[in-house]
Amino acid sequence: MTKPKGMDAGPADIPWIAFTDACIARVEPRTDAPVVRRLAKGDTVIGDYFVDPQTDEEWVLATIDGERAYVPRWNLCRIHPGNHVTENLPYGTEIVNRWWGLPIDYEPDDLEIVPKEYCDSDPKEYPLRAEALDALLALLDAARAEDLDIRVGSAYRSGIYQVGLYTRAIDRDGPSQRYSAPPGHSEHQLGTCVDLLDAEEKFVLVDEFKTTPHSAWLESNASRFGFRRSYYPENVADTGYISEPWHWRYWGR
Ligand code: DAL
Ligand code: ZN
Repeated sequence: MTKPKGMDAGPADIPWIAFTDACIARVEPRTDAPVVRRLAKGDTVIGDYFVDPQTDEEWVLATIDGERAYVPRWNLCRIHPGNHVTENLPYGTEIVNRWWGLPIDYEPDDLEIVPKEYCDSDPKEYPLRAEALDALLALLDAARAEDLDIRVGSAYRSGIYQVGLYTRAIDRDGPSQRYSAPPGHSEHQLGTCVDLLDAEEKFVLVDEFKTTPHSAWLESNASRFGFRRSYYPENVADTGYISEPWHWRYWGR
């Protein structure tokens, strides 16, 4: 078992919470192993993160009804103690990664829609917290002044919306995939993050985005506007997610 680095970011006795009724604890880390107990949505377990060295699947090893039980990591979320708030989280204090998350229903109340002329061609609306949006528009205008048309392809996503994205990613690439965050564990739920792309939409959500002048400009200039890239090859062990040159988070100025 490898202990992910990000696990060191807080106390170990914080419960994991089932966000689906389809959550089943088993005696072995295998989906065909005998059942210890079926968990209902909202049930909690205390346990250690367990990565199966054979399959790279993620489990939580817990004690349930006095028995060792393996619960699929992809059915659980775990809220960082600092993220238990009833109002908007202060910018820059939020701890959200693969090991620490948000209440599944956390939604900031100051979301505004990114104007369409700054977005990709998808008819979907992209909400962002007001201060982050102001900073983002200043950033995108500064890039445009240098003839770089950078567009938004995703912003705030609710915890429930993330269930669909995550489930699709697991169905497509299996539980060892590290590109889609488990529900409650996506920085997008903060309303402070955007996925950025070039206006021609040639390098959408692919590593090659880093070869574009848009990416180079962001790496040199985004910090002036309070934005930082979240996921680099160097911090994969800390965040639990793959390198993403397109994902930028507002930390405040
Ligand atoms: N792609 C990032 C990790 C997310 O799903 O939030
Ligand atoms: Zn993103």
